[in-house]
Amino acid sequence: MKKVEAIIRPSKLKAVQRGLKEAGIPCLTVVPVKGTGLQKTYSERYRGTELSMIMKTRIMIMCIVSDDNLEKCIDTILDNSSEGTPGDGKIFIYNVEEAIRIRTRTRGGEAIK
Ligand SMILES: Nc1ncnc2c1ncn2[C@@H]1O[C@H](COP(=O)(O)OP(=O)(O)OP(=O)(O)O)[C@@H](O)[C@H]1O
Ligand SMILES: [Mg+2]
Repeated sequence: MKKVEAIIRPSKLKAVQRGLKEAGIPCLTVVPVKGTGLQKTYSERYRGTELSMIMKTRIMIMCIVSDDNLEKCIDTILDNSSEGTPGDGKIFIYNVEEAIRIRTRTRGGEAIK
């Protein structure tokens, strides 16, 4: 199992969610976040604040998927979240040790089906 954490533009959330659902990956958690990426224009200022210090509003999507679904999940997020311009976001992948469905106590791959 893998954890896919994608930081995307809020405007792309609906398309990503729809795409994941159509790809057979309906379960996800969404968190509003603020952060900064690389700013090549760090010396510029906007209303007195260094641009590198301005926190951009983004959405973090988190889903736990089977190893088999990982590439499909990544491709779906890439296809639906890119404008092709700086600030599009990032995807991070982690190994997941265990998943447990509370209602049934089902563990492992069965818990995320
Ligand atoms: N290395 C990182 N660690 C944690 N969060 C990150 C990291 N890189 C980016 N983020 C998060 O993703 C958001 C969007 O990042 P962004 O797309 O600007 O990355 P970038 O590396 O600057 O790429 P680009 O050149 O396309 O802008 C940031 O506002 C931040 O919340
Ligand atoms: Mg950036």
